[in-house]
Formats: sequence, C-alpha cells, structure tokens
Amino acid sequence: MLKILISITIKPTIKMLSETKLALLHQIIQDATTEEIIWTKGYLAGCLDKNANDLSNSNQSLLSNVSVKPLIIYGTETGNSKKIAIQLLSNFKKNKIQAKALDVFQFDVAKLEKETLILFIISTQGEGEFPQNAVAFYDYLKSTKINLNNLSFAVLGLGDTSYPLFCNAGVLLDEVLIEKGAKRLLPLAKADLDYADTVIAWENDLKSVFQNQDPIKTEIKTVVPKSNHKKNYSGQISHKIVLNDRESNKETYHIEITSNDEIVYEPGDALGIFPKNNEAELKAIAVYFDEDNYSVLTDKNIKGLSKKSLEALSKVLDIVVEENKADLLDVINKYQPKKVKLEEIVALLHPIAPRLYSISSSSEAHDGQVHLTVNLNKFKVGAVIKSGLASHYLADFPLHTELEFYIHKNNNFRLPSDETDIIMIGPGTGIAPFRSFISQRDVTGAEGKNWLFFGEQHFVSDFYYQTEIQEWIGTGILTKLDTAFSRDQKEKIYVQDRIRQKATEFNNWLENGASLYLCGQKAPMSIDVEAAIVEVIAAERNISKDAAKQVLEDLEAAGKYQKDVY
Ligand SMILES: Cc1cc2nc3c(=O)[nH]c(=O)nc-3n(C[C@H](O)[C@H](O)[C@H](O)COP(=O)(O)OP(=O)(O)OC[C@H]3O[C@@H](n4cnc5c(N)ncnc54)[C@H](O)[C@@H]3O)c2cc1C
Ligand SMILES: Cc1cc2nc3c(=O)[nH]c(=O)nc-3n(C[C@H](O)[C@H](O)[C@H](O)COP(=O)(O)O)c2cc1C
Repeated sequence: MLKILISITIKPTIKMLSETKLALLHQIIQDATTEEIIWTKGYLAGCLDKNANDLSNSNQSLLSNVSVKPLIIYGTETGNSKKIAIQLLSNFKKNKIQAKALDVFQFDVAKLEKETLILFIISTQGEGEFPQNAVAFYDYLKSTKINLNNLSFAVLGLGDTSYPLFCNAGVLLDEVLIEKGAKRLLPLAKADLDYADTVIAWENDLKSVFQNQDPIKTEIKTVVPKSNHKKNYSGQISHKIVLNDRESNKETYHIEITSNDEIVYEPGDALGIFPKNNEAELKAIAVYFDEDNYSVLTDKNIKGLSKKSLEALSKVLDIVVEENKADLLDVINKYQPKKVKLEEIVALLHPIAPRLYSISSSSEAHDGQVHLTVNLNKFKVGAVIKSGLASHYLADFPLHTELEFYIHKNNNFRLPSDETDIIMIGPGTGIAPFRSFISQRDVTGAEGKNWLFFGEQHFVSDFYYQTEIQEWIGTGILTKLDTAFSRDQKEKIYVQDRIRQKATEFNNWLENGASLYLCGQKAPMSIDVEAAIVEVIAAERNISKDAAKQVLEDLEAAGKYQKDVY
C-alpha cells in the first residue's frame, strides 16, 4: 500500500445562499428575539471555526502522511525528459513530497531491489532504441536475475509519432520492470513531441493514485492527446550548391526550398523528411526472391539495418550475419541466403524513419523559403565508400521537383529576448540554426550582441557562408566571430580551443546574462565543447569543476543554455 498523499490547494469559491435557503433564514430571523439572533450568530461562528479546524487538520494529516519518497529517473538524449523530471520534482516539492530526480546514468543499479517507488521518464532514440545514458541500465535490467517485488513504478515514454517505433524504449522498460516483479502504478504513458498535455495528465494520474493510496485498484486512463505538431508540406528545391571547394574532404549542400504554401517555422526549428529508397536496389532484392513486385519494399528500411534486425532476418534466411550494421542487398549478395517469400522479409523490416535537418534560414529574412545545410554523410564499408540514405536523397534530389517534408518544432532551441546577448557555438553543419538566428536578428533589428564560434577542417575549402558572415561582421550584426580550422596547421585546433583562448571574455558574457547555444555533432564535438566551457567557468570564477558543471546545469535548467546536437 502506498502511503503518499499530496496536499492540493483548493481555491474556495464563494457562493451566495440559494433563494430557498435565504427565504428560510429570513423566516427564522423575522420571528427571533434579539437574544436568539445573538445566540445564532455565535452558533454559526462556532460552525465556521470547526470547519476551519477540520480543513487545517486534514491538511496537516495530508502532509504528515508523506512516508514514501518517489525517485524520478530520467533517460534523455536531447534534454526533454530531464526538463520534465526537474519540473515534476519541483511540483512535488511544492506539495511537500520529498522526491529526488536522477539521470539514469547516475543511478546505482545495485540498489534497485531496495527502491519502493520510481517514476521513469525515458525518451526513444535511433530506431526505437534507448538514449545513450540509459542503454547500460536497460541491458543490466534485462540480463540480471533481480527481484523487484518491492518496487512500484510508472513510465512516461517520450517519442515522436513520425517514427515507426513510437516510444519503444518506454514500452521495453515498462515490460522488463513487470517481468522482474515490479508493480505498475499507471499504464505506460506515451508522449509525442508536443508532450505538455500528456505530462500534465500523467502528473494528475499520479496524484490520483497517490491519493487513493491503493494503486492496484486505481483504474487510470492516461490521456494521449492527438498530435498536431506536424503539418505536411510539399515544395521544390529551387537552388542547391555545394558549400565546399574542390579540395575539401566534405560535401555540404546549401539547399533552398520554396513552396506555394506558407511554410510556418521559427528560427531553431528543423525540417523533417522521409527519404525514399533507390528503386534499382529494391528491384534487385525482389528479383533475388523471384518477385516482380518490389513496391512492397518502397517504404521499408533496407539500409543500415541494426544488429537486432539482422538477427531476425538471419533466422528467416537461415544464415549467420557477422556485421552489426548492413544494407539488405549487401547481406543478400554476400550470404546468398535461401529463397523465401518476399513478404516474410517485408514483415521483418521497419518503415523508413524520418531524418531532421536544422533550418538555416529565417522566414522573415528569406522570403518564406526554407534553407538547409546538409552534409553528405559518407562512410566506408570494407573498401566501398557509401553514403547515408537521407543526405544522399537530398543531395541528389532534382531541382524543381516536388519534395514532401514537415516542420519539426523545437521550442527548446529558441532565440531569447531581443536585448539579450547570445553566444553560438556551431562547427560544421552546426552553423545552420545560427545562420537562421543571425538573419532573424538582422531583419528584426534585435539589439543583443551576437558571438559566433565556427569550425571546420580548412579555411579555404570549408568556411560555410563565409561571404555572408563577413557581411554580418561588416554591418555589425555579428559582434564577434571566432573560427577554428582544424587541419590548417600541424596541431589540430577546434572551437573548444578558441573558447579556452577567450576564457575571460566568454565568462564575462555569461556572467552578464548572455544565452549560450551549441549545435552540431554530438560526439565528440559537443562533449569536448562542454568540457571546455566547464573548464573556463571553473578557472575564471575560481570554483571547482563540479561547481562549474552545476553552473552550466543551472543555465540549462533556466533555458539560458540550449543545445541541439545529433
Ligand atoms: C535535430 C537534428 C538536426 C539535424 N540537423 C542537421 C543539419 O543541419 N545538417 C546535417 O547534415 N545533418 C543534420 N542532422 C543529422 C541528419 O538528421 C541525419 O542523421 C544525417 O544526415 C545522416 O542521415 P543519413 O540518412 O544520410 O544517414 P544514414 O543512412 O542514417 O546513416 C547514418 C550512419 O549509419 C551508419 N550506416 C548506415 N548504413 C550502414 C551500413 N550499410 N553499414 C555500416 N554502417 C552504416 C553509418 O555510420 C552512417 O554514417 C540533424 C539531426 C537532428 C536529430
Ligand atoms: C535521431 C532521432 C531518432 C528518434 N527515434 C525515435 C524513435 O524511434 N521512436 C520515437 O518514438 N521517437 C524517436 N525520436 C524522438 C525523440 O524520442 C523525441 O524527440 C523526444 O522528445 C526526445 O526526448 P529527450 O530530449 O529526452 O531525448 C527520435 C529523435 C531523434 C532526434
């Protein structure tokens, strides 16, 4: 039995007496003597005091009954789950519930059997996978003999209905906890990108469970609001150029999309596409299995199949695949499996997942167009150089042909008020949203100062948007620019080195209230940059590294440090 009660502030609504009651009161007063009226007044006052006492007593008993302290554990990749966990923690604290919130990575799994109440908030990443910080926790849970009979839990899964395996990590976590004997307080709640309503409903459901004291008997239906964040658009690529010069190791495209519809987006948003498969590859797969109709494969992901998918296929095809990631056609060509019905293969393939690209334009500055900065993702498989499905699809997409896309809102990556200074760290394609930010501030005349850190391999061949950036410096909209071209000298120099070199000024900007933004590759870039920022804060403020980390965390919690890394 769960013994948590939450004190809920009830706002009294003052109601006048009904006409019938008023008439009755008049009747009593009309015939009463003065002494009787005085006595009645005292009697009524006494009644009021008694109610007041009952109310405060019940409040006291609510608070004194708080005997279980929920632990909120979050697994996150881009910070949404953490944000929700911190908010939930703060709401609990307001209700005098002593809760704790922890990154799943910091949780000591050895103590799991002793826990009595955990609220999990977990997002889904990749192809229905756990966020990086939660992988080890799930693997441990799945593979260890553990008795979780003491544990009551609820899972809030965060996801995106655009992805085929919606909130899959939440589903898997919820399942494994039950497998290990834990008690489910609430049915799994699944939140889409516009998660606010689901989170409120989940929190209310939790409060109901806590108040009813008996979670098992409580029948709760968590509301999952229908998503409305995705409007599908159709447009055309009107302009496409490679931003790198010939000697570059990179192939990064500046792409401009126009549409007859008004494309509604804000700086910080991304564009989502569902890339299409190469028809020749689909045909070759179908032909191998003696099928003419390859259309059943059109929307299926046949590229870069995960280990899990490859294992499932191996069983059906009666082969042993060595690779951890591989394209279906390569598997067929290499292992020459037995010929099964194509539909058996199709049943094991997931739909193609969407890909996101930061928008590098401002609707106001660029006449309603959407611009992207897309790096053609290249990688080696054996001796063969391959390219990523979506980046190749966009890089190759013919001009003036219809392209379907949607706008992925990102309210966690937004410009601050016009007068606030901003520091933008965006090496490589990480520059994309900052081109949008600066263009927007330019066109709206925002007076806050703007400092950009940009980096790539070579000044001559990889300085994206160089002319534009120089113009921004010239007009003064870009207050400061620091570049790091890693391969132009013997020692590699990265944006984090520039941040270290500018430590005093960097810290001054932060102390004066500048908002900090980071965009681009998650690993190793964003990790190294964060480490440098922590070092700078620690050295400049003469505080420990842990204290500096806390400063950065506080900035993040306050929305003054926002990152969009991938
Ligand atoms: C919010 C957000 C914003 C983003 N903004 C940008 C942006 O502005 N610009 C930009 O360029 N990108 C951006 N990205 C990244 C982008 O969404 C894609 O992830 C990227 O373009 C790679 O997708 P792809 O389909 O080309 O590659 P995929 O086909 O998805 O391949 C990805 C990787 O999988 C591996 N792989 C695939 N197939 C195989 C195989 N057969 N064998 C072995 N390994 C394999 C390789 O390592 C490869 O690099 C953003 C991502 C997010 C989440
Ligand atoms: C590359 C990528 C892959 C994703 N894959 C999935 C997925 O397979 N299923 C899903 O429901 N959501 C998926 N999402 C959506 C995230 O779960 C969603 O954005 C969530 O709000 C992120 O929460 P977090 O910031 O706590 O990590 C994916 C997002 C990204 C950027």
